[in-house]
Amino acid sequence: ATSASLSGRVVTITAGPTREPLDPVRYLSNHSSGKMGFALAAAAARHGAEVHLISGPVTLPTPVGVTRHDITTAQEMSDTARQLAKESDVFIGCAAVADYRAANVATHKIKKQANRDGMTLSLVKNPDIIADVGGMTEHRPFVVGFAAETRNLEHHARDKLERKGLDMIVANDVSLEGLGFGADQNAALILWRPDATTPLQRRELPARDKAALAETIIGLIIERLMTSNDSKQTP
Ligand code: PMT
Repeated sequence: ATSASLSGRVVTITAGPTREPLDPVRYLSNHSSGKMGFALAAAAARHGAEVHLISGPVTLPTPVGVTRHDITTAQEMSDTARQLAKESDVFIGCAAVADYRAANVATHKIKKQANRDGMTLSLVKNPDIIADVGGMTEHRPFVVGFAAETRNLEHHARDKLERKGLDMIVANDVSLEGLGFGADQNAALILWRPDATTPLQRRELPARDKAALAETIIGLIIERLMTSNDSKQTP
């Protein structure tokens, strides 16, 4: 569906994996393909939004009408996100951001040690991008996070919604065959809180193409934006 319901709105979306270098030839990363985040960007653009897509290294074409910002590391994604979030009405964190990076990136290729069977990597925490946006006190956008879980989906999703200061969370069980990372389909449990006093609302979306899931997620976000506009007009 095409509509102008997001016209005049700026939507920033993070997508894909981040890559955390260990040395000039190696890195830590994950299996995110960017498909889910790119589908969200395409859907938001179809609804008339100005869309900024902050993408890790993926092999997907940029959706029509979307401005793409390519990054490699979580720190680079964080720097770009901080800039764009201030100008955004909606911020969606779909990227699979590496929680940790190497404490020291080796200048030269790390050599195999002939006399040692084990090796220990020392890691340090990366910035939590969505939590930083969720915690903004000025020009805070409507903040939507994802939760990739392999068990206790709803419990972890509720915890992330609260802890990261999100308005909505899209939780996906990434242990299910044919869904989640790299797949063309996904299923989700979406949770949001209409206002501070109302209990969490939930919507369960069974497996479907990521394009269809993205359309539903953007539709729910549009509903939330319209509701908060109404409440601003009637104090
Ligand atoms: O890219 P695809 O192959 O299409 O796969 C889609 C997906 C499975 C990657 C996607 O649907 C998804 O679940 N994305 C979130 C993956 C993830 O890293 O989830 P998390 O539970 O670790 O993180 C929770 C939230 O915090 C996410 O919104 C994440 O973007 C954000 N985060 C996490 C760590 C960090 N340092 N900064 C963040 O902003």
